[in-house]
Amino acid sequence: MQSINKEQPLSISVKQLTEGETNLISSLANISALIHSHWSTVSFWCGFYLIYENQLVLGPFQGPVACTTIQFGKGVCGKAWEKKETIIVKNVHQFEGHIACSSKTNSEIVAPILANGEVVGVLDIDSEQFDAFTSHHQKELQLICANIATQFFS
Ligand code: SME
Repeated sequence: MQSINKEQPLSISVKQLTEGETNLISSLANISALIHSHWSTVSFWCGFYLIYENQLVLGPFQGPVACTTIQFGKGVCGKAWEKKETIIVKNVHQFEGHIACSSKTNSEIVAPILANGEVVGVLDIDSEQFDAFTSHHQKELQLICANIATQFFS
């Protein structure tokens, strides 16, 4: 494992962090820790849900305890799964069907991990700030998810 260069894009640091790693769970644990610390001003909760038996199941994360399962199309995570798209929610209180794992969350971003056109999991970040996430976060998370798909699901 190398030391992290804070000047480079987060997605590059994540790629370097997991280079040569073969275990999905330990890599996702380190990725969630790196994102959470790198974006500490916006990240209240950062983690993964992975698809098992046709539902999203809580995976490695950083932050307070969270809901363990999410169904297809439900909440922001289930919608990102259904749409196969990244979803940015500026104000979760205005998102119909939002699943509130914590009452402290005010905005959220969820990026799907797509392998061969199918969603195998999602990467979710919650913020205590309203409107915390930008196209920059979206771009970086999509690169991180694409890298996870290539390294562990191809
Ligand atoms: N808010 C998410 C649920 C997961 S937690 O935020 C960790 C949702 O609506 O899908």
